[in-house]
Amino acid sequence: MTTPRDILITSALPYANGSIHLGHMLEYIQTDIWTRFQRVRGNKAIWMWASDAHGTPIMLAAQRDGIEPQQLIDAMKAEHEQDFIDFQLSFDNFHTTHSPENRQCAELIYQRLREAGHIESRTIEQLYDPEAGMFLPDRFVKGECPKCGTAEQYGDACEHCSSTYDATDLINPVSVVSGAAPEKRDSEQFFFKLGHFEDMLREWTQGDQLQPEISNKLKEWFEDGLQDWDISRNKPYWGFEIPDAPGKYFYVWMDAPIGYMGSHLHYVGEDQAAFDHHWASDSTSELYHFIGKDIAYFHTLFWPAVLHGSGHRKPSAVFCHGFLTVDGAKMSKSRGTFIKARTYLDNLPPEYLRYYFATKLNNKVEDIDLNLEDFVARVNSDLVGKIINIASRCAGFITSRFDGQLAASLPQTNLFEQSAHAAESIATHYENREFGRAMREIVALADDANQYIAENAPWTLIKQEGQEQQVQQICTLGINLFKNLVIYLKPVLPTIAEKTEAFLQVEPYNWSDSASPLTSHTIGKFKPMISRIEPASIAAIVEASKQDLEETAAPVTGPLAEDPISEEIDYEQFARIDLRVATITSAEHVKGADKLLQLTLDLGGETRNVFAGIKSAYQPEQLVGRQTVMVANLKPRKMRFGMSEGMVLAAGPGGSDLFVLSPDEGALAGMRVK
Ligand code: 2FM
Ligand code: ZN
Repeated sequence: MTTPRDILITSALPYANGSIHLGHMLEYIQTDIWTRFQRVRGNKAIWMWASDAHGTPIMLAAQRDGIEPQQLIDAMKAEHEQDFIDFQLSFDNFHTTHSPENRQCAELIYQRLREAGHIESRTIEQLYDPEAGMFLPDRFVKGECPKCGTAEQYGDACEHCSSTYDATDLINPVSVVSGAAPEKRDSEQFFFKLGHFEDMLREWTQGDQLQPEISNKLKEWFEDGLQDWDISRNKPYWGFEIPDAPGKYFYVWMDAPIGYMGSHLHYVGEDQAAFDHHWASDSTSELYHFIGKDIAYFHTLFWPAVLHGSGHRKPSAVFCHGFLTVDGAKMSKSRGTFIKARTYLDNLPPEYLRYYFATKLNNKVEDIDLNLEDFVARVNSDLVGKIINIASRCAGFITSRFDGQLAASLPQTNLFEQSAHAAESIATHYENREFGRAMREIVALADDANQYIAENAPWTLIKQEGQEQQVQQICTLGINLFKNLVIYLKPVLPTIAEKTEAFLQVEPYNWSDSASPLTSHTIGKFKPMISRIEPASIAAIVEASKQDLEETAAPVTGPLAEDPISEEIDYEQFARIDLRVATITSAEHVKGADKLLQLTLDLGGETRNVFAGIKSAYQPEQLVGRQTVMVANLKPRKMRFGMSEGMVLAAGPGGSDLFVLSPDEGALAGMRVK
């Protein structure tokens, strides 16, 4: 027997300020299938993962909601983890980068890098927002591109001409935090000297650790020269303060990948040897990172250099995937194809998407398309029509005619051997992350099995005298072919595998169980395992995704809103907005909506039904009888929950501090307020 491999696997850490969508799920499902495959092969595989909890966007999102960052990241972590569990992801630990373990790892790495001379302190010019009182990250400044002059470009790169530049080079910059014009201010920062690792990286990045597309991209990056990397940020910042540098924090991208280690340290607890076993410079275990192509630079240059420079091992490989498109285009909120994990789960079982992604995934860095029509067709045809069908065609006879007993031997055909023989090539496809190839080979085996059953027609044979034994053998072979298909699909379809093991009354299967047939064994009664996807489920997902968009439309804009103040309007335009004071005569929760309340507003005779995004601030009963200002002539809008006939105005930083207006006693409902 070969010695089991010892593998530590990671997926990219999701930011703790937004919901998980199917684009994220593509990577996590890819990671999960590969991890489960390693385990079913008998290898030791642990998946260490965490929530990416630091950085300016999280700090600002918390401020906007009027809550502490800790509250935000706790809530997001819980939401994400539930999505992952419900998608049957078999991670071993989902920790957070804002943890004592991660702080310990980040400080150790920083200190070692500094002692080894890989950190340099320099004073640089940065953009400072005098109104918000903070230095601005690149993505929080907009202005005209210094190369082509296109307006509304971010501080790092121009979307029009693709040039990259420093935020300080933007022409007429504006802070997206406050709308103010930022000033240039000097600031001391800490830089990681990536160039110190050029020789090591040139060698490492041209080996087997990376896909050819990535190695080629890296050649370009080497030609451009390895730049020092600014790993510090000024306060106010949400992250870890740098030891001995008050007011300076580690940049989120410094402690994010260290989060892989922090999660592992949390997982092993006091067992330092178990931690070192995976991370020490002489570690013989394997370390793999699954990531999207957009974060390849961090994982193929900075991360191996940071690990190496701090006396740790380097990754065994970094596996990059492309982006998810839906129906051939970028996921779109307005088309309803920006689908949240939860919206999918509310409508369909996870295994359908797991299977579909598996049919599409390969080891290239190319984008993957979720074609919704093809998704329905493939699941219905492959899973329901071909694979599960084998069991349902054969099991009935075994139960009704043979008391659940499988035959003692298989019929004269090499079909079982053929199916057992496929184990190695299917395993090679999984190992190489060529899941699509594995699925095609599995479906081809299912086609052969169905053809055999159709040709031998046990349903006809059973009516002929003296053919019972023959029928029992045919169905026993059918069940055995099904068994092997399920073993091969076990990394993709964990629930179906479990149900099959229960139906066959066997212990959980390993890969090598595909070599031996199950004979002279009593099986249970077959129960349907899955049903066809109805197009209505897809329509419901698309519809609900459009409404997610309506629901997330921000109820307030204000000093912390990301958008700068919009274009000016003149008085004529303003005068067309009919603002009225209205009395809230009823307020109710809206089933299925996280942020909305349904209000009935009395405008002094006329009543209106309005859906308002103020649930975070009020219990419905607190609102009844209060007065508010509403836009009375806003065109009614059809929402999932009904027609919204106007808009309520509210003020406050957001979250629980959001106030509808209760004017002085005596104010009249329906009164014009301008
Ligand atoms: O791009 C992202 O979504 C990051 N949160 C990924 C971090 S992966 C790792 F480095 F932590
Ligand atoms: Zn430009």
